[in-house]
Amino acid sequence: MNTDWQTDALPELAQRILARLQQAYGTISDPWRLPVLATLGPEGPDARVVVLRDVLKEGRELVAFSDRRAPKIAQIHQHSRIALVFYDGAGPVQLRIHGQAGVQEASDMERWAGLSDAQRQNYRSLATPGTPVDSPSEGWSTTNRSGLEEFAVVRIKVETLDWLWLARAGHRRAQFTWEAGGWSGRWVVP
Ligand SMILES: Cc1cc2nc3c(=O)[nH]c(=O)nc-3n(C[C@H](O)[C@H](O)[C@H](O)COP(=O)(O)O)c2cc1C
Repeated sequence: MNTDWQTDALPELAQRILARLQQAYGTISDPWRLPVLATLGPEGPDARVVVLRDVLKEGRELVAFSDRRAPKIAQIHQHSRIALVFYDGAGPVQLRIHGQAGVQEASDMERWAGLSDAQRQNYRSLATPGTPVDSPSEGWSTTNRSGLEEFAVVRIKVETLDWLWLARAGHRRAQFTWEAGGWSGRWVVP
C-alpha cells in the first residue's frame, strides 16, 4: 500500500492514518490488515496476529473475530486493556494503538452470514484451541455444529494512536488521543 505520510499538519496526518485503516481491512494485500494484538495473560504479556475485520466510528472502533474458547478471549475478559501493532515495511511505518477490548455477548448473525464455509470451519474444532493433540490432523477434527456458538466478535475501542515513520529525510513520530470529539495530536521524539 502506498500512503503518502509526508505532512507537517497533525490533523491531516490523523486523517491519513484513519483512511489507511479504513482501506486496510478490505484489502487482502495490505499488511495493516494483519495487526498483532497484545493482551495481558495470566503469565504476563501475550501477542498474536489477527485479521482486522472492520473499522467503525471513523476509526475509533476496530473489529476482529476469534473462537470464543481461545485463550485471548479469557485474557480480554480479565484485562480489557490491549495494544494493537500495525506494521508496513513500505515506509517503513508502524502504528501502535492502545484501547479497550470487549467481546460481544450475543451471536452476530450478520457477520456470521458474511463468512464462507471455509472460514466457519475455524470455529468447529472439537476441542478448545491450544489443546495438545498427538498429531496435526487430530487438531482438524470438527463437530457437526455450525460453529456459530464459538464465533466471537471482538470490538476494540481505540484510545490512543502512536505513529512512527522511519523516513530517510528524518524519522517522524506522532501521538494522538481522542478528546472532545476529535483526535488531538502532538509530535514526539522518534
Ligand atoms: C495470518 C494470520 C491471521 C490470523 N487471524 C486470526 C484471527 O483473525 N483471529 C484469531 O483468533 N486468530 C487468528 N490467527 C491465529 C492467532 O494468531 C493465534 O495463533 C490464535 O488465535 C490463538 O491465539 P490465542 O491462543 O492467543 O487465543 C491468525 C494467524 C495468522 C498467522
